[in-house]
Amino acid sequence: MKKIAIFASGSGSNAQKIIEYFNENPVAKVDIVLTNKREAFVLERARNFHITSVTFNRDELYNSDVISNLLCDRQIDLIVLAGFLWLIPANILRMFPNRIINIHPALLPGYGGRGMYGQLVHEAVIANREIFSGITIHYINERYDEGDVIFQAKCKVEITDDAHSLAEKIHALEHMHFPRVVEEVIMKLDAKS
Ligand code: GAR
Repeated sequence: MKKIAIFASGSGSNAQKIIEYFNENPVAKVDIVLTNKREAFVLERARNFHITSVTFNRDELYNSDVISNLLCDRQIDLIVLAGFLWLIPANILRMFPNRIINIHPALLPGYGGRGMYGQLVHEAVIANREIFSGITIHYINERYDEGDVIFQAKCKVEITDDAHSLAEKIHALEHMHFPRVVEEVIMKLDAKS
């Protein structure tokens, strides 16, 4: 059974969907939830499902081996970024080639890059009167919101939508697709290993 580590900085609704999806699934399980925010609601979600969680600071992630050692000791197979807002450092990228995936709440390459996250993405999409938005699930590299795309799904932006209603549509799309796409990525790992 493969082990997933989820990194999240906020509410963690996607993290919860992934935890639930793999709760009774023989393919993989969520082994640990990691966050850079002590007050992140994702910690409570992890507790509710009896999943180990760890909070770390900038120094621990970027200037020490604390997190990379933890991932190694727990024999993590796949890292899933679910609303995680910091870059993953080079040492962890090297340890997990094609084994770190991120979800972005827009159709990359549009509306990505530094500072483009969460509600700010939806506000920009609405301000530009886009007809479509959507989600992108992709492998990560050392830059924000780049790396090969694994999956995209679109939704219509209605004239009546605001950033809030668009965020709801996007979250619904994320919850519908993200756990299944994580499973597909894991099955491919299986085929390779
Ligand atoms: C999600 O919409 C995710 O796509 C976005 O943060 C939200 C987290 O929601 N990620 C980014 O913007 C990354 N650039 P959640 O905490 O409820 O899962």
